[in-house]
Amino acid sequence: MEQYVIKGGNPLVGEVEIGGSKNAALPILAAALMTDETVYIENMPDVFDTNVLLKAIESIGVIVKRTGRHSVMINAGNINSVIITDENIKKIRAAYYPTGAMLGKYKEAQVPLPGGCDIGCRAIDQHIKGFKALGADVVIEHGLIKTKAERLVGTHIYMDCVSVGATINVMMAAALAEGTTIIENAAKEPHVVDLANFLNSMGANIKGAGTDVIRIKGVVKLPGTEYTIIPDQIEAGTFMFAAAVTKGDVTVKNVIPKHLESITAKLMEIGCEIEESDDCMRVVASKRLKPTHVKTLPYPGFPTDMQPQIAVALAMAQGTSIVTESIFENRFKYVDELTKMGANIKVEGNTAIITGVSHYTNANIQAPDLRAGAALVTAALTADGFSVVDEIRFIERGYEDFHLKLQNLGAQIERVSSEKEIQKFKLRIG
Ligand code: EPZ
Repeated sequence: MEQYVIKGGNPLVGEVEIGGSKNAALPILAAALMTDETVYIENMPDVFDTNVLLKAIESIGVIVKRTGRHSVMINAGNINSVIITDENIKKIRAAYYPTGAMLGKYKEAQVPLPGGCDIGCRAIDQHIKGFKALGADVVIEHGLIKTKAERLVGTHIYMDCVSVGATINVMMAAALAEGTTIIENAAKEPHVVDLANFLNSMGANIKGAGTDVIRIKGVVKLPGTEYTIIPDQIEAGTFMFAAAVTKGDVTVKNVIPKHLESITAKLMEIGCEIEESDDCMRVVASKRLKPTHVKTLPYPGFPTDMQPQIAVALAMAQGTSIVTESIFENRFKYVDELTKMGANIKVEGNTAIITGVSHYTNANIQAPDLRAGAALVTAALTADGFSVVDEIRFIERGYEDFHLKLQNLGAQIERVSSEKEIQKFKLRIG
């Protein structure tokens, strides 16, 4: 089983190129099913989740050609089924996106229920509510979401909670429905906007993405397109917080600073210096970090996907901080692991009360999920001595070449698959 072995102590210094957004790529790859023509996608991250989704759509006859590590050509003109049975797709949350895409185009889809990181209940009632409002029948049977419609007709949908997945799924189905659909209380995340831009580049008529109200005027057919995915807000934020945790000086390149506003605001509050240019952001952390309070919220609030990363930083700040998780109820699973490294964190319900310690100590730890795994790596990068991080498959779901990018910033980290390799690393690093 693959692990990272890390010798902490080096501040991260240098520049890191941020890849395409995983959470934009996943719906965009699914939405490529909505046209019979060819779609060319650039800046696609080469990570587990995108690769699983590509394999799943290939399994129903979609032609997928990788034209480069980050570019793919997709043609769904000749699919042989609207039923995805691919086993692997159950492992990812984005399993639900082909449902909205195929329901829109073929008025029918059967797709396994989504999996993904175990960070909370992750209901799909709002997806189902949206599909039904458009006129589809939806049943869940034998682990599949089965949905079918004679016709989809535009309607007014009020989302009971702000959901990225439900907003995206309903937007896809509505793009090929008859008439106009209005989604109220829509999610405003950058990846929701990116999907709307992608669909509009194929001739869809979607207005208001990025606000609470999205208006979708259905069209009959979508042609192909060429599209470049936006940079990954969370990958960028993770490296920015890694700079803060390791008292480093890191410039994240190829980012959209607007998407990082809530992240940079918190970094400044805890005492980091930030320099912003058109598509770069430099984070310099030279002093002990200051405590703060933070609550995760839908965009433009502080992202839940950055909660473990900020907590790792605050657990080394001088004083007490409070972190409130308002999106997922099970997103503090990393606290036990961080405690092994000397952190002082008390979790009460959806709140973590963090009393900063001066440093972390090395330990053998496990990544409990994607973002928490990445955050624990940043803690190990600043701990004295050698740490081993287990279950890195979670991290590789959403970070491309994480250890290589960290190595380029001066981190002593290696991806290993045996005890022998760990020993070799220890001998080499000393
Ligand atoms: C997306 O998950 C992301 N995943 C998550 O990123 C991210 O944490 C989350 O949005 C919030 O930003 C992908 O894009 C693949 P939601 P999603 O629907 O769509 C409740 C990462 O680390 N809810 O916005 O599943 C739900 O329980 C991952 O990259 C319902 O109650 O999240 C949660 O409390 C982890 N009913 C809240 O809404 C529904 O029908 C937000 O969920 C749908 C959601």
